[in-house]
Amino acid sequence: MDEQHMDERQQRRRTAPAALIGAPLDRVEGRLKVTGRALYAGDHAPEGPLAYGYVVESTIARGRIAAIDTEAASRMAGVVLIVTHRNAPAQAPYGPPKVAQRFQRAKPALDSDRIQYYGQPVALVIADSFEAARAAAALVKVRYTPEWGARYNMRAELRNADTPDGINAGMPHDTAVGNFDQAFAAAPVQLDVTYTTPYEHVNPMEPHATVARWHGDRLVVHTSTQGVNNCQIAIAKTFNLPAENVRVVCKHVGGGFGAKVPIHADAVLAAMGARLTGRPVKVALTRQQTFANTNHRTETRQRLRLGATRDGRLTALAHDVIEQTARYDEFAEQTAAFTRSLYAAPNRLTSHRVVRLDLPPSDIMRAPGEAPGALSLECAMDELAHRLAIDPIALRERNEPTVDPERNVPFSTRGLVACMREGAERFGWARRPSTPGALRDGRWLVGYGMSAAIRPNYLQACKAEVKLFPDATARVRLSMTDIGTGTYTILTQIAAETLGLPMEAVRVELGDSDFPPSPGSGGSWGAASSGSAVLDACTALRGKLAAAATTDAASPLYRGDPARAVMAGGRLQADGKAESLRALLARAAPGGIIAMGEIQRGKDYVDYSQHAYGAHFAEVGVDPDSGEIRLRRMLGVFAAGRILNPKTARSQMIGGMIWGVGAALMEESWVDPRYGAFVNRDLASYHVPAHADIPAIEAIFLDEHDDKANPLGAKGVGELGICGAGASLANAVFNATGVRVREYPLTLDKVFAALRA
Ligand code: MOS
Repeated sequence: MDEQHMDERQQRRRTAPAALIGAPLDRVEGRLKVTGRALYAGDHAPEGPLAYGYVVESTIARGRIAAIDTEAASRMAGVVLIVTHRNAPAQAPYGPPKVAQRFQRAKPALDSDRIQYYGQPVALVIADSFEAARAAAALVKVRYTPEWGARYNMRAELRNADTPDGINAGMPHDTAVGNFDQAFAAAPVQLDVTYTTPYEHVNPMEPHATVARWHGDRLVVHTSTQGVNNCQIAIAKTFNLPAENVRVVCKHVGGGFGAKVPIHADAVLAAMGARLTGRPVKVALTRQQTFANTNHRTETRQRLRLGATRDGRLTALAHDVIEQTARYDEFAEQTAAFTRSLYAAPNRLTSHRVVRLDLPPSDIMRAPGEAPGALSLECAMDELAHRLAIDPIALRERNEPTVDPERNVPFSTRGLVACMREGAERFGWARRPSTPGALRDGRWLVGYGMSAAIRPNYLQACKAEVKLFPDATARVRLSMTDIGTGTYTILTQIAAETLGLPMEAVRVELGDSDFPPSPGSGGSWGAASSGSAVLDACTALRGKLAAAATTDAASPLYRGDPARAVMAGGRLQADGKAESLRALLARAAPGGIIAMGEIQRGKDYVDYSQHAYGAHFAEVGVDPDSGEIRLRRMLGVFAAGRILNPKTARSQMIGGMIWGVGAALMEESWVDPRYGAFVNRDLASYHVPAHADIPAIEAIFLDEHDDKANPLGAKGVGELGICGAGASLANAVFNATGVRVREYPLTLDKVFAALRA
């Protein structure tokens, strides 16, 4: 990726307005962030005496609160108010889980004496300082009446698995094509393997935090969210308010990964505390509290059955998933959904079942579905390739579908084979030993592995406003969030290029529910949805200016064709004539000019199977005496439509790939089988890759433009990097050792035991 290494002068040359979209520009808010001036939710200092709320969590998972003693806590210096279910204001009941708008539903807190998971908020202590609130919280005494029959262990409850109503993203829980049972039974080669993946937690750098303040009947909330509109509606529903009485502001987010798509207790309790005290209230969840009170990824048990001919053609393919959901809620991750579009096979089955447990609800976490799903399917494909003595890439190419195998519609673009071939070439895949355990480097057993990556491309309705000022600067506004992915930057690029202005002349303002509505960041739909709306707004603005100029006798463009007008270099041009924007605006719109833009799903969205693709390659070393695994190098090659900014996009991919390394080798949340608590609730015991775990990782993009996806031709990249990444490591471990561990994460104890056996 030479563009990453261009010197600054070259980069400046590339930023001439005509070539802004697609240029590897630095983040426009980068300086703010590295100088500590970017304000995150918890940094917000409202006018008025700020009070601090500290959440008291339940210490049982199922039962009732018998008594709460807040006496001693209330007497502590600085304590303002203690809120429990006894004095909390009326709220709407918990929104029904089985609704399309899951992220906009009411989420009451402290609304009853009922306890439904360990760590559920049972009180909010509000004090003049965080320290006073925390100290007083430790003095709140809660007595519980536990209920018998609590269930925390998915593996022990498999026979109680239920069929969910549907799975995330509105997909069916089961699909069937052809006759799987018959075809699998008749297949010359059969693979029937079960993989498990553990509970995982999101752990963004910035934990959840909210500062809330009431102005009469209007609530203003500064919170860390992936989408201010969902948040606004959910808070309004919770407190039975009209949505317009709630304003949500979020200018910077230190990572979301799905957990900041729904609202959580911090937002609800801050709003409640502010109402009851008449003061602005800040509630920040501690890192430990986020484990029960934000999103976790479900544990999964995945059975893969692959029937094939001896030359490697899949005749039958089944992916059956069992996962956890809360007893009081329902969320089913779409773990097997991507399998429906990845490989050709005439007979197919996918299914999702849920085990209802007394744990917090599982919810979306980066690449819900593909991330844990690919850890099994992409290893099963590797197992089949080994069984058939076919190269894993050749096996995948042999099963490349010509149309979406379950929906029977064409693919908009399908870059999988190109990614695998480019990656094989660059990675030196030909050097992979075809016999496992055959390559050594000193004491290390060395292996190569690969995996396919696939991620659906979503597009959501979005609006944007652009205003051009008389001094030829522009302001773009929409409620979109930048969760650290580069949204401010790419939207600035799109607006500047379309308006023919330098980057510095465009100010993008995001993260405010008073701005035109957006879907926010999530599902990797952010760039394409918000970018298309901004493109449309800027195009509409150009149209307005062109109409004004071509009908104005004082303009050099008078009587020109408005459809041929372009904006470049601070001027409006058509048919070889040009007028500066300043001159035109001074006459035609001395107060500036505003245009609106929007995007929504069209016919192509349903007529085509739209996905982004990739191929991961990993080389690992395994210590044969300890089972220790070290990643040695990794490459991801991706085809994700037009890349709006290769620098921020690459950063997304690398981040996703590193998360894949964590998923393969170390990440795992443990449930205490006695109490139903997640026990490793910090980054000391919840292991994620550190710098020393990550050697050279490279991510490159193939040239692509998906004209079915949206007017920009871009597809989402936020979640693609993790899809399949971990499977490439697991497959490399097999190639290094000849042992296959099917229980993630592949910690050294499991690898060691397999090596001994
Ligand atoms: Mo993503 S899990 O939709 O933020």
